[in-house]
Amino acid sequence: MKAIVYIKYGSPDVLELKEVAKPTPKDNEVLVKVHAASVNSGDLHLLRADPFLVRLMSGLLKPKFNILGTDVAGRVEAVGGNVKQFQVGDEVFGNVSPYGWGGFAEYVCANADAFVLKPANVTFEEAAAMPMAAITALQGLRDHGKIQPGQKVLINGASGGVGTFAVQIAKSFGAEVTAVCSTKNLDTARSIGADQAIDYTQEDFTKNGQRYDLILAANGYHPISDYKRSLSPKGIYVMSGGSGAQMIQAMFQVGPWVAQTNQKDLAFMKELLEAGKVKPVIDRRYPLSEVAEAMRYLEEGHAKGKVVITL
Ligand SMILES: NC(=O)c1ccc[n+]([C@@H]2O[C@H](COP(=O)([O-])OP(=O)(O)OC[C@H]3O[C@@H](n4cnc5c(N)ncnc54)[C@H](OP(=O)(O)O)[C@@H]3O)[C@@H](O)[C@H]2O)c1
Repeated sequence: MKAIVYIKYGSPDVLELKEVAKPTPKDNEVLVKVHAASVNSGDLHLLRADPFLVRLMSGLLKPKFNILGTDVAGRVEAVGGNVKQFQVGDEVFGNVSPYGWGGFAEYVCANADAFVLKPANVTFEEAAAMPMAAITALQGLRDHGKIQPGQKVLINGASGGVGTFAVQIAKSFGAEVTAVCSTKNLDTARSIGADQAIDYTQEDFTKNGQRYDLILAANGYHPISDYKRSLSPKGIYVMSGGSGAQMIQAMFQVGPWVAQTNQKDLAFMKELLEAGKVKPVIDRRYPLSEVAEAMRYLEEGHAKGKVVITL
Protein backbone atom coordinates (compact mmCIF):
# COMPACT_ATOMS: atom_id res chain seq x y z
CA MET A 1 0.00 0.00 0.00
CA LYS A 2 1.01 3.65 -0.37
CA ALA A 3 1.82 5.58 2.80
CA ILE A 4 3.48 8.80 3.87
CA VAL A 5 6.54 7.68 5.79
CA TYR A 6 9.06 9.51 7.98
CA ILE A 7 12.11 7.82 9.43
CA LYS A 8 13.70 10.87 11.05
CA TYR A 9 12.34 13.91 12.85
CA GLY A 10 12.27 17.16 10.91
CA SER A 11 10.22 19.53 8.78
CA PRO A 12 7.51 18.31 6.36
CA ASP A 13 10.40 17.89 3.86
CA VAL A 14 11.31 14.57 5.52
CA LEU A 15 7.94 13.03 4.60
CA GLU A 16 8.08 10.54 1.72
CA LEU A 17 5.40 8.73 -0.25
CA LYS A 18 6.43 5.05 -0.14
CA GLU A 19 5.16 1.56 -0.88
CA VAL A 20 4.93 -0.36 2.43
CA ALA A 21 3.39 -3.63 3.57
CA LYS A 22 -0.38 -3.57 4.11
CA PRO A 23 -1.05 -4.25 7.82
CA THR A 24 -2.94 -7.31 9.06
CA PRO A 25 -5.42 -6.98 11.94
CA LYS A 26 -4.65 -8.65 15.27
CA ASP A 27 -7.48 -10.23 17.27
CA ASN A 28 -8.88 -6.95 18.64
CA GLU A 29 -8.17 -4.86 15.57
CA VAL A 30 -9.91 -3.79 12.44
CA LEU A 31 -8.28 -3.07 9.09
CA VAL A 32 -9.74 0.07 7.55
CA LYS A 33 -9.35 1.20 3.95
CA VAL A 34 -8.80 4.90 4.48
CA HIS A 35 -10.97 7.22 2.38
CA ALA A 36 -10.05 10.42 4.21
CA ALA A 37 -7.76 11.57 7.01
CA SER A 38 -7.23 14.95 8.63
CA VAL A 39 -4.16 16.81 9.77
CA ASN A 40 -3.73 17.93 13.38
CA SER A 41 -1.15 19.92 15.31
CA GLY A 42 -0.34 16.59 16.99
CA ASP A 43 1.05 15.33 13.67
CA LEU A 44 3.32 18.37 13.53
CA HIS A 45 4.49 17.84 17.12
CA LEU A 46 5.46 14.25 16.30
CA LEU A 47 7.01 15.14 12.96
CA ARG A 48 9.27 17.79 14.45
CA ALA A 49 9.66 16.17 17.90
CA ASP A 50 8.63 19.55 19.25
CA PRO A 51 8.36 20.00 22.17
CA PHE A 52 11.38 17.82 22.95
CA LEU A 53 9.38 15.80 25.52
CA VAL A 54 7.50 14.24 22.58
CA ARG A 55 10.57 12.02 22.14
CA LEU A 56 9.82 10.25 25.43
CA MET A 57 6.66 8.90 23.84
CA SER A 58 7.57 8.64 20.20
CA GLY A 59 11.25 7.66 20.22
CA LEU A 60 14.30 9.39 21.66
CA LEU A 61 16.50 9.49 18.55
CA LYS A 62 14.13 8.56 15.74
CA PRO A 63 10.37 8.08 15.42
CA LYS A 64 8.96 4.81 16.73
CA PHE A 65 5.88 5.11 14.52
CA ASN A 66 6.81 5.82 10.92
CA ILE A 67 3.41 6.80 9.58
CA LEU A 68 1.67 9.85 11.04
CA GLY A 69 -2.06 10.58 10.86
CA THR A 70 -4.49 10.29 13.74
CA ASP A 71 -7.97 11.03 12.36
CA VAL A 72 -9.33 8.73 9.68
CA ALA A 73 -12.58 7.69 8.03
CA GLY A 74 -13.00 4.71 5.79
CA ARG A 75 -14.46 1.27 5.20
CA VAL A 76 -13.73 -1.85 7.26
CA GLU A 77 -11.76 -4.27 5.09
CA ALA A 78 -11.10 -7.04 7.64
CA VAL A 79 -11.69 -7.69 11.34
CA GLY A 80 -9.66 -9.60 13.95
CA GLY A 81 -11.03 -12.76 15.57
CA ASN A 82 -12.34 -11.02 18.73
CA VAL A 83 -14.01 -8.07 17.07
CA LYS A 84 -17.77 -8.07 17.46
CA GLN A 85 -18.53 -4.34 17.00
CA PHE A 86 -17.83 -4.09 13.27
CA GLN A 87 -18.21 -6.10 10.10
CA VAL A 88 -16.44 -5.99 6.78
CA GLY A 89 -17.95 -3.16 4.73
CA ASP A 90 -18.92 -0.93 7.69
CA GLU A 91 -18.17 2.75 7.24
CA VAL A 92 -16.29 4.01 10.29
CA PHE A 93 -14.29 6.96 11.56
CA GLY A 94 -12.03 7.46 14.52
CA ASN A 95 -8.72 8.44 16.06
CA VAL A 96 -5.95 5.87 15.72
CA SER A 97 -3.25 7.79 17.63
CA PRO A 98 -3.57 5.73 20.85
CA TYR A 99 -2.81 2.63 18.77
CA GLY A 100 0.33 3.73 16.93
CA TRP A 101 -0.95 6.40 14.50
CA GLY A 102 -0.74 5.41 10.79
CA GLY A 103 -3.64 7.34 9.22
CA PHE A 104 -1.71 8.83 6.29
CA ALA A 105 -1.86 5.56 4.36
CA GLU A 106 -4.20 3.61 2.13
CA TYR A 107 -4.95 1.19 5.00
CA VAL A 108 -4.66 1.42 8.77
CA CYS A 109 -5.05 -1.20 11.51
CA ALA A 110 -6.14 -0.19 15.00
CA ASN A 111 -8.03 -1.53 17.99
CA ALA A 112 -11.76 -1.61 17.25
CA ASP A 113 -12.30 0.86 20.12
CA ALA A 114 -10.62 3.55 18.03
CA PHE A 115 -13.68 3.71 15.77
CA VAL A 116 -17.42 4.29 15.64
CA LEU A 117 -19.81 3.88 12.72
CA LYS A 118 -19.87 6.85 10.37
CA PRO A 119 -23.30 8.49 10.15
CA ALA A 120 -24.82 8.15 6.67
CA ASN A 121 -25.45 11.91 6.43
CA VAL A 122 -21.77 12.91 6.54
CA THR A 123 -19.04 12.34 3.99
CA PHE A 124 -15.79 10.48 4.73
CA GLU A 125 -14.01 13.84 4.61
CA GLU A 126 -16.34 15.40 7.16
CA ALA A 127 -16.04 12.38 9.44
CA ALA A 128 -12.23 12.41 9.20
CA ALA A 129 -12.20 16.11 10.05
CA MET A 130 -13.77 15.46 13.41
CA PRO A 131 -12.13 13.20 16.03
CA MET A 132 -9.13 15.02 17.54
CA ALA A 133 -10.33 18.62 17.16
CA ALA A 134 -13.94 17.96 18.14
CA ILE A 135 -13.09 15.83 21.15
CA THR A 136 -10.63 18.46 22.35
CA ALA A 137 -13.40 21.05 22.08
CA LEU A 138 -15.94 18.75 23.75
CA GLN A 139 -13.71 17.81 26.68
CA GLY A 140 -12.57 21.42 27.08
CA LEU A 141 -16.11 22.78 27.26
CA ARG A 142 -17.91 19.94 29.05
CA ASP A 143 -15.33 18.29 31.31
CA HIS A 144 -12.98 21.16 32.11
CA GLY A 145 -15.35 24.08 31.53
CA LYS A 146 -18.51 22.53 33.07
CA ILE A 147 -20.60 24.23 30.39
CA GLN A 148 -24.28 24.86 31.22
CA PRO A 149 -27.26 25.99 29.12
CA GLY A 150 -27.71 29.75 29.03
CA GLN A 151 -24.10 30.50 29.92
CA LYS A 152 -22.14 33.15 28.10
CA VAL A 153 -19.23 31.32 26.47
CA LEU A 154 -16.35 32.88 24.55
CA ILE A 155 -14.14 30.90 22.17
CA ASN A 156 -10.82 32.53 21.30
CA GLY A 157 -9.41 31.08 18.08
CA ALA A 158 -12.93 30.23 16.92
CA SER A 159 -12.07 29.75 13.24
CA GLY A 160 -9.52 26.93 13.55
CA GLY A 161 -9.91 23.17 13.79
CA VAL A 162 -10.73 23.12 17.50
CA GLY A 163 -12.55 26.47 17.47
CA THR A 164 -15.07 25.69 14.72
CA PHE A 165 -16.12 22.58 16.65
CA ALA A 166 -16.11 24.46 19.96
CA VAL A 167 -18.56 27.08 18.68
CA GLN A 168 -20.99 24.43 17.45
CA ILE A 169 -20.65 22.18 20.51
CA ALA A 170 -21.18 25.12 22.89
CA LYS A 171 -24.35 26.03 20.95
CA SER A 172 -25.56 22.43 21.19
CA PHE A 173 -25.23 22.73 24.99
CA GLY A 174 -27.51 25.80 24.87
CA ALA A 175 -24.84 28.43 25.52
CA GLU A 176 -24.74 31.96 24.13
CA VAL A 177 -21.54 31.94 22.13
CA THR A 178 -19.10 34.70 21.27
CA ALA A 179 -16.49 33.77 18.67
CA VAL A 180 -13.17 35.60 18.42
CA CYS A 181 -11.53 35.43 15.00
CA SER A 182 -10.09 37.70 12.32
CA THR A 183 -12.06 39.79 9.78
CA LYS A 184 -12.05 37.17 7.04
CA ASN A 185 -13.58 34.54 9.31
CA LEU A 186 -16.41 36.55 10.90
CA ASP A 187 -19.04 35.25 8.46
CA THR A 188 -17.95 31.64 8.98
CA ALA A 189 -18.18 32.09 12.76
CA ARG A 190 -21.73 33.40 12.45
CA SER A 191 -22.68 30.72 9.92
CA ILE A 192 -21.76 27.95 12.37
CA GLY A 193 -23.94 29.50 15.05
CA ALA A 194 -21.95 32.11 16.97
CA ASP A 195 -24.32 34.68 18.48
CA GLN A 196 -21.61 37.32 18.38
CA ALA A 197 -18.33 37.45 16.50
CA ILE A 198 -15.46 39.71 17.58
CA ASP A 199 -12.73 40.61 15.11
CA TYR A 200 -9.47 40.34 17.04
CA THR A 201 -7.77 42.66 14.56
CA GLN A 202 -10.20 45.45 15.51
CA GLU A 203 -11.16 44.82 19.11
CA ASP A 204 -9.53 43.33 22.20
CA PHE A 205 -12.28 41.34 23.91
CA THR A 206 -10.40 41.43 27.21
CA LYS A 207 -10.84 45.22 27.27
CA ASN A 208 -14.47 45.63 26.22
CA GLY A 209 -16.00 45.23 29.68
CA GLN A 210 -17.92 42.03 28.82
CA ARG A 211 -17.84 39.09 31.25
CA TYR A 212 -18.15 35.42 30.31
CA ASP A 213 -19.05 32.33 32.34
CA LEU A 214 -16.63 30.19 30.34
CA ILE A 215 -13.72 31.08 28.08
CA LEU A 216 -12.10 28.44 25.90
CA ALA A 217 -8.71 29.59 24.62
CA ALA A 218 -8.19 27.46 21.51
CA ASN A 219 -5.72 29.74 19.77
CA GLY A 220 -4.07 33.14 19.86
CA TYR A 221 -2.50 34.73 22.92
CA HIS A 222 -3.57 36.74 25.92
CA PRO A 223 -1.95 36.71 29.35
CA ILE A 224 -4.03 34.71 31.81
CA SER A 225 -4.63 37.90 33.82
CA ASP A 226 -6.49 39.32 30.77
CA TYR A 227 -8.66 36.24 30.50
CA LYS A 228 -9.47 36.39 34.20
CA ARG A 229 -10.59 40.01 33.84
CA SER A 230 -13.13 38.85 31.25
CA LEU A 231 -14.63 36.13 33.46
CA SER A 232 -17.76 36.45 35.59
CA PRO A 233 -17.08 35.91 39.34
CA LYS A 234 -17.48 32.12 39.08
CA GLY A 235 -16.30 31.95 35.48
CA ILE A 236 -13.97 29.22 34.24
CA TYR A 237 -10.97 29.61 31.94
CA VAL A 238 -9.94 26.58 29.90
CA MET A 239 -6.90 26.54 27.66
CA SER A 240 -6.77 23.91 24.95
CA GLY A 241 -4.04 25.51 22.86
CA GLY A 242 -2.56 28.72 21.54
CA SER A 243 0.83 30.36 21.45
CA GLY A 244 3.81 28.85 23.27
CA ALA A 245 3.73 31.68 25.84
CA GLN A 246 0.07 30.99 26.57
CA MET A 247 0.77 27.28 27.07
CA ILE A 248 3.68 27.91 29.42
CA GLN A 249 1.59 30.28 31.54
CA ALA A 250 -1.26 27.79 31.61
CA MET A 251 1.14 25.03 32.67
CA PHE A 252 2.08 26.96 35.80
CA GLN A 253 -1.18 28.73 36.56
CA VAL A 254 -4.16 26.63 35.50
CA GLY A 255 -2.82 23.14 34.84
CA PRO A 256 -2.25 21.58 31.41
CA TRP A 257 -4.48 18.88 29.98
CA VAL A 258 -4.49 16.79 26.86
CA ALA A 259 -7.67 15.54 25.24
CA GLN A 260 -8.24 11.83 25.91
CA THR A 261 -9.76 10.15 22.90
CA ASN A 262 -12.32 7.53 23.80
CA GLN A 263 -15.07 5.71 22.02
CA LYS A 264 -17.80 7.15 24.27
CA ASP A 265 -16.98 10.74 23.28
CA LEU A 266 -16.62 9.73 19.63
CA ALA A 267 -20.12 8.27 19.84
CA PHE A 268 -21.34 11.49 21.50
CA MET A 269 -19.91 13.51 18.60
CA LYS A 270 -21.37 11.05 16.11
CA GLU A 271 -24.84 11.83 17.51
CA LEU A 272 -24.27 15.57 17.13
CA LEU A 273 -23.19 14.98 13.53
CA GLU A 274 -26.18 12.78 12.86
CA ALA A 275 -28.55 15.35 14.36
CA GLY A 276 -26.99 18.05 12.19
CA LYS A 277 -25.97 20.02 15.28
CA VAL A 278 -22.35 19.96 14.20
CA LYS A 279 -21.06 20.30 10.65
CA PRO A 280 -17.31 20.08 10.18
CA VAL A 281 -15.78 23.09 8.44
CA ILE A 282 -13.23 21.96 5.86
CA ASP A 283 -10.76 24.52 4.59
CA ARG A 284 -8.58 22.59 2.15
CA ARG A 285 -8.28 19.09 0.74
CA TYR A 286 -5.02 17.47 -0.38
CA PRO A 287 -4.29 14.06 -1.97
CA LEU A 288 -2.19 11.55 0.02
CA SER A 289 0.91 12.45 -2.01
CA GLU A 290 0.65 16.05 -0.72
CA VAL A 291 0.51 15.45 3.04
CA ALA A 292 3.68 17.52 3.40
CA GLU A 293 1.96 20.48 1.71
CA ALA A 294 -1.07 20.02 3.96
CA MET A 295 1.15 20.06 7.03
CA ARG A 296 2.97 23.18 5.86
CA TYR A 297 -0.37 24.90 5.40
CA LEU A 298 -1.60 23.89 8.87
CA GLU A 299 1.68 25.06 10.34
CA GLU A 300 1.09 28.58 9.00
CA GLY A 301 -1.63 28.79 11.68
CA HIS A 302 -4.46 30.26 9.64
CA ALA A 303 -6.53 27.29 8.52
CA LYS A 304 -10.26 27.96 8.53
CA GLY A 305 -11.56 24.77 10.12
CA LYS A 306 -9.84 21.53 9.14
CA VAL A 307 -7.30 20.40 6.55
CA VAL A 308 -8.25 17.05 5.04
CA ILE A 309 -6.39 14.37 3.09
CA THR A 310 -8.48 12.52 0.51
CA LEU A 311 -7.67 9.06 -0.81
N1 LIG B 1 -5.26 19.95 24.37
C1 LIG B 1 -5.29 19.08 23.33
O1 LIG B 1 -5.43 17.87 23.51
C2 LIG B 1 -5.21 19.63 21.93
C3 LIG B 1 -5.71 18.89 20.85
C4 LIG B 1 -5.69 19.46 19.60
C5 LIG B 1 -5.15 20.74 19.45
N2 LIG B 1 -4.63 21.40 20.51
C6 LIG B 1 -4.02 22.73 20.39
O2 LIG B 1 -5.08 23.66 20.18
C7 LIG B 1 -4.61 24.75 19.41
C8 LIG B 1 -5.55 25.01 18.28
O3 LIG B 1 -5.57 23.89 17.41
P1 LIG B 1 -6.34 24.02 16.06
O4 LIG B 1 -6.32 22.66 15.45
O5 LIG B 1 -7.64 24.68 16.26
O6 LIG B 1 -5.34 25.00 15.26
P2 LIG B 1 -5.51 25.61 13.85
O7 LIG B 1 -6.65 24.99 13.14
O8 LIG B 1 -4.19 25.63 13.19
O9 LIG B 1 -5.88 27.14 14.17
C9 LIG B 1 -5.87 28.04 13.15
C10 LIG B 1 -6.86 29.15 13.45
O10 LIG B 1 -6.39 29.94 14.55
C11 LIG B 1 -6.77 31.28 14.32
N3 LIG B 1 -5.89 32.23 14.98
C12 LIG B 1 -4.56 32.42 14.74
N4 LIG B 1 -4.11 33.41 15.53
C13 LIG B 1 -5.16 33.84 16.27
C14 LIG B 1 -5.32 34.85 17.26
N5 LIG B 1 -4.29 35.62 17.65
N6 LIG B 1 -6.52 35.00 17.82
C15 LIG B 1 -7.55 34.25 17.46
N7 LIG B 1 -7.48 33.29 16.51
C16 LIG B 1 -6.29 33.09 15.93
C17 LIG B 1 -6.64 31.42 12.82
O11 LIG B 1 -7.51 32.43 12.39
P3 LIG B 1 -6.98 33.69 11.53
O12 LIG B 1 -6.45 33.13 10.26
O13 LIG B 1 -8.20 34.50 11.38
O14 LIG B 1 -5.90 34.34 12.36
C18 LIG B 1 -7.06 30.07 12.28
O15 LIG B 1 -8.42 30.01 11.89
C19 LIG B 1 -3.17 24.39 18.98
O16 LIG B 1 -2.30 25.07 19.84
C20 LIG B 1 -3.10 22.91 19.23
O17 LIG B 1 -1.78 22.50 19.54
C21 LIG B 1 -4.67 20.89 21.73
